[in-house]
Amino acid sequence: MGIPLINLVVAGLLFAVAQAFPSGGHQHKCPPFNKGNFTVSQFQLYPENAIWDDRHCVVYFASLFNGSVVVYDPYRDKVNKILEFPGITNVLGQHASGLDYDPVTNLLSVVIDSQNPFLTEGADVSGDNWLLKYDLTRNKELWRTNLTAVTKGLWGGFQDVSVDTRGNSYVIGTYPKSVIKVTPRGKASVYFPPQTNDTTVHGYTGTAHAGNTMLVVDNNGTPESSATGNSEIYRFDLSSGSPHGTPVLVPRTPHTAIGEADKIHLPQAYGGTVLLVAEDLRGLTVLRSLDGWHTAEHRGFIPSDFPVFFQKIVPSSIQIGPTKNYLIGQYFPGEFVPGTNSGNRSDFPMFDLTAQIDALLA
Ligand SMILES: *[C@@H]1O[C@H](CO)[C@@H](O)[C@H](O)[C@H]1NC(C)=O
Ligand SMILES: *[C@@H]1O[C@H](CO)[C@@H](O)[C@H](O)[C@H]1NC(C)=O
Ligand SMILES: *[C@@H]1O[C@H](CO)[C@@H](O)[C@H](O)[C@H]1NC(C)=O
Ligand SMILES: *[C@@H]1O[C@H](CO)[C@@H](O)[C@H](O)[C@H]1NC(C)=O
Ligand SMILES: *[C@@H]1O[C@H](CO)[C@@H](O)[C@H](O)[C@H]1NC(C)=O
Repeated sequence: MGIPLINLVVAGLLFAVAQAFPSGGHQHKCPPFNKGNFTVSQFQLYPENAIWDDRHCVVYFASLFNGSVVVYDPYRDKVNKILEFPGITNVLGQHASGLDYDPVTNLLSVVIDSQNPFLTEGADVSGDNWLLKYDLTRNKELWRTNLTAVTKGLWGGFQDVSVDTRGNSYVIGTYPKSVIKVTPRGKASVYFPPQTNDTTVHGYTGTAHAGNTMLVVDNNGTPESSATGNSEIYRFDLSSGSPHGTPVLVPRTPHTAIGEADKIHLPQAYGGTVLLVAEDLRGLTVLRSLDGWHTAEHRGFIPSDFPVFFQKIVPSSIQIGPTKNYLIGQYFPGEFVPGTNSGNRSDFPMFDLTAQIDALLA
């Protein structure tokens, strides 16, 4: 059977990238994905984040209100499995929000947050927060770490995670900005401490990494109500394995305002040179860096005011297949279905914006 030309082209691109961002030399083999826009049908999916697994060619969705992870095969349009976590899944107020997949270890990282800070704009940071590792080889939870035990409940809003090449995890917090480092065996410590005791100051909401270069987006130092329009990107260098890190501003040219950012992604399709910043209620900002994120070019913005998508909530973006990039449509849950912790929706749109992104990069 011949290898489609597109795969060779992509493999060549990824090879160049692998040299820039070594990630363990694993091979990419997923077939092209050409469905364009589509809808995922899964009761109460309410996806807060999603991540592409180019080893098994599946998508993992963090199902926000259920506190579960949905394993979805986009080629067959089929939910393969729903990963549930005892004491977390279907427990009111435990939300699934952050995801990372490491193809070298075949481990899935899942951040579970307490909903309280998100309901109160950081005024109430109570409740349990977890980093959980799921072993996809053995199909079982490996461990979970109680992040609240590290913060003593003084700060919170954990909602995303990056993993370095040694297998350490870095969980980012929003209220206020902070980072907790968790070793491969699950031991947690403060990597970047809060810079203020005011938990209503809106900080990091998303993180992405290419090798040991970790990026975060910061809704920069103001209470949430006034945070709109001043998000900035910062870089952490994870290569030293140090127990503490310092964020370095990534200057953007032009310095066009980024709105209230949510999750960020560095799609493999662009070899870690393109950062997609999801902005809630607004759309997607496209940034590019050709110097390892020491500086960034602001390439443009794609609004999400699609006629079919009245609520415009775009928590995240995701690569699917070797080359396509999607905006994920999220909805407010409305009234909860009795006996559950979520709304009644089953259909969630996925918007293929590859052509629009590529046009901004041309
Ligand atoms: C997907 O839908 C969005 C919104 O209508 C549109 O802008 C985009 O071009 C569509 N993508 C494809 C590949 O049709
Ligand atoms: C959410 O939980 C309900 C049961 O409360 C279940 O029927 C549904 O399939 C779950 N959906 C997801 C995405 O976990
Ligand atoms: C997590 O840690 C916090 C703070 O130490 C504690 O109050 C809470 O009971 C712990 N949760 C569980 C389920 O052990
Ligand atoms: C937070 O409050 C504690 C106790 O009042 C104080 O020691 C500490 O310096 C404060 N931290 C910051 C970053 O202001
Ligand atoms: C789902 O819930 C909304 C209110 O949150 C309601 O307007 C709608 O009719 C419900 N749909 C179904 C199919 O039950």
